[in-house]
Amino acid sequence: MQKEILYSATKPTGKLTLGNYIGAIKNWSEMQENYNSIFCVADLHSLTINIDRQELKDNIYSQIATFLAFGLDPEKSIIYCQSHVKEHAELGWIMNCTTYFGEASRMTQFKDAKAKNKNISVGLFTYPMLMAADILLYDTNVVPVGIDQMQHVEICRDIATRFNAKYGETFAIPKGIVPKTGAKIMGLLDPTKKMAKSGDNDNDVIYIEDDNETIMRKFKRAVTDSLNRIKYCDEQPGVSNLLTIYSAMKKITIEQAEKEFEGCGYGDLKTRTAQAVIDVLSPVREKLNALKADKKYLEKIMAEGAEKARYLAKKKLNKVYKKVGLVTF
Ligand code: TYM
Repeated sequence: MQKEILYSATKPTGKLTLGNYIGAIKNWSEMQENYNSIFCVADLHSLTINIDRQELKDNIYSQIATFLAFGLDPEKSIIYCQSHVKEHAELGWIMNCTTYFGEASRMTQFKDAKAKNKNISVGLFTYPMLMAADILLYDTNVVPVGIDQMQHVEICRDIATRFNAKYGETFAIPKGIVPKTGAKIMGLLDPTKKMAKSGDNDNDVIYIEDDNETIMRKFKRAVTDSLNRIKYCDEQPGVSNLLTIYSAMKKITIEQAEKEFEGCGYGDLKTRTAQAVIDVLSPVREKLNALKADKKYLEKIMAEGAEKARYLAKKKLNKVYKKVGLVTF
C-alpha cells in the first residue's frame, strides 16, 4: 500500500527552541518511517518580518543541520528550503486569489502581530496562503505541527476544499496533527505565553543550541508558584509546563511524571527536568555543531532536496494553472 504524505516546516526567524522540538521535530523523526515525508525550511515566510539578512542565512543553514542532527534522513525524506522551489510563490499567488479578505483577517497570529506592531507587511497578512501553497503542492495528507499552527492548517483545508469544489478534484485535503503531550510548550519565565524563537527574554526560552550549563541555569530560574505541590492543573501553569517537558523528554505520560515527583520539591522538579532535556539535546548538539561547520554538505542536501521537491511541485502547479484557465505548454 502507498504510504501517506507528511509535510511540515519551520520558519528560520530565529534559533530553534525546545518548543519547536517537542511540538514538531520530535514527532517528525518518529513519523518519518511511516510516511513519505517532506521537511522544509520556510525561508520565504521569514521575510514577512524584519530580519537581519546574515542572521537569516545563518538560521537557514542551522535549521537544515538541526533536521539532520535529529535524524531526519535525506535518503528517506525530502529535506529542502522553500525559496529553492519557485512553485511555492507561484501557487501562493493562486491561493491569495482563492481566499476571502475576511477569512484571512480572522487569523489570530495576524491579529496579534497587528495589535503589537505598527509597521507590518502585506506578506504577514498573506502568510497563511503561502503556507497553504506549501502544503497543497505535495498532495499532503498529514501536517504534524504545534497547536499554534492549527488555525493555519484549518484555513488551508478550507481553501483546498473551495478550490476543489470550483475547479474539480485537484488537492488532497490535509489533516493537522498535534502531539499528545507538548502541543504548546510555554515560556519558563512567563508560563502563560508560548515559548517562542523571537521572545523578549532569552531566559524564557531553551534553544536547542544552548549548552548544558545554560539549560540548567534557565530551568533553575523557571517560574513556579507557592502552592508547594507538583500537579498538572490550570492553577499551576509553571509546574504544569515543567511536567509536560519532563514527560515529553522521558516519553512517559503526565500522570506517570506526577507520580515520579510525589513528595518532591520544586527544586527537584526543575533540576531533573533540566537534566532530562540535557540528556536528549546534548548528544544532538555535538552532531549539530559538526554539521553546521560543513556548509558545502548542507548545500548539497538542500540542492538534492529541492530537485526532488521541484519535480513534484511543477507537476501540481501545471495542473492548477490548467484548471484555472491559464495557457500552459
Ligand atoms: P514555526 O517555525 O513557528 O514553528 C515550527 C513548528 O514548531 C511548533 N512550535 C511549538 N510547538 C509547541 N510548543 C511551542 N512553544 C512551539 N513553538 C513552535 C509550531 O507549531 C510548528 O509546528 N508557519 C510555520 C512554518 C510553516 C509550515 C508550513 C508548517 C511554513 N509552511 C507548512 C507546516 C506546514 C511556523 O511559523 O512554524
